Amino acid sequence: MLVDRRTVLAGAAALALAPRMAQAAAEPSLARIAQAKGMCFGSTMGLRNFLDPAYRQLNASQCGLIVPETEMKWVALRPDARTFDFAAADRIVDWATSNGMGVRGHTLLWHSERWMPDWVAKHDYGPDPRKEAERLLTEHVATVARRYADRIDSFDVVNEGIDPDTGLLRETALSRHLGAEATIDIAFRAAREAAPRAELVYNDFMTWRADDGRHRAAVLRLLEGMKTRGVPIDGLGVQSHLGSKYSDAPTGLGQVDERAWRAFLDEVVGMGLNLLVTELDVHDNPLPTAIEVRDRAVADHARAYLDLMLSYPACKTVMCWGLSDRYTWLAGSRPRPDGTPKRPCPYDADFRPKPLRAAIAGAFGARPMHG
Ligand code: G3I
Repeated sequence: MLVDRRTVLAGAAALALAPRMAQAAAEPSLARIAQAKGMCFGSTMGLRNFLDPAYRQLNASQCGLIVPETEMKWVALRPDARTFDFAAADRIVDWATSNGMGVRGHTLLWHSERWMPDWVAKHDYGPDPRKEAERLLTEHVATVARRYADRIDSFDVVNEGIDPDTGLLRETALSRHLGAEATIDIAFRAAREAAPRAELVYNDFMTWRADDGRHRAAVLRLLEGMKTRGVPIDGLGVQSHLGSKYSDAPTGLGQVDERAWRAFLDEVVGMGLNLLVTELDVHDNPLPTAIEVRDRAVADHARAYLDLMLSYPACKTVMCWGLSDRYTWLAGSRPRPDGTPKRPCPYDADFRPKPLRAAIAGAFGARPMHG
């Protein structure tokens, strides 16, 4: 049997980590602490990270839920208009379910031109472009949702449909033919039909920051419109990429407006929607270089945030966007100006628990028992 070098190295890394993992496993996992309060905890897993056995083990030991990071997006599933390639998504879903974890689906439609495959814009929509756009969208959503309907209980049906700078719905190749509202509605209706028991979620990155008011207002407008039109939606995915949205913010994690955030959440739950924390991490660029100071600030910020979120009975799911600093998406896309490694996750790059891990566990433990 041929064993490649990467597999050998990964196996060695897993062995080296074994004692630490065994010790960590003796403590209650985040999933178990969450479960004791009627909640689910999980994280994202991308294929690149999935190939690291020690990271798989960390996730299996801490998570009750897994969400594929990229592998269920159009860019991964759809090489062209006729083909579906489920190989990578299936690997992650099969691994999660065979290890007793649930799976969230992300995302049946990323309503943003930038993140859709190029062919969607170049596609020949023919003499009746509206009809063809609807066929393409419905076929995609139905095929993916139906394939995983027995293993996925919750789907991010539409991701990031709003331009936060204008507060308007984005335009894409599909929405230019269908209208933006109709595009979103069609995706949700097709998802409900294909996976009738699944929780259907609109997922976006509005936050509690004082400078995010326009985005929050736009999300409320979208949700209210969907409810008025009778669109089947069950929840709002609050991504929760915390910290300043500006990489070069002078200090601190940005000014938050708790009152505005509560008012926003009150409106959402008033519509009968669940709240899901879907992509928690803390962008630490504006914090000082010293690791202890930074980790403390990240943990305190997240604890205050989670305490607020978990005060809502409708919030029963908390997902991190990666468990370890080794694999965070933020390392590549938002490097720190001082060049030091980013620390946005609950475990460090060597899979050692950080103060953020304790903050998450503490928030779960302190959650009031909601009826
Ligand atoms: O798989 C290819 C690989 O074959 C190729 O060699 C390499 C070259 O760049 O790219 C690899 O794909 C990358 C993929 O991640 C897998 O690592 C893409 O370029 C890269 O754009 C993609 O980034 C992901 C991004 O979404 C776009 O899909 C991030 O990992 C992922 O963390 C991020 O997740 C988003 C959520 O879906 C929505 N909310 C925000 C969040 C963070 O941006």
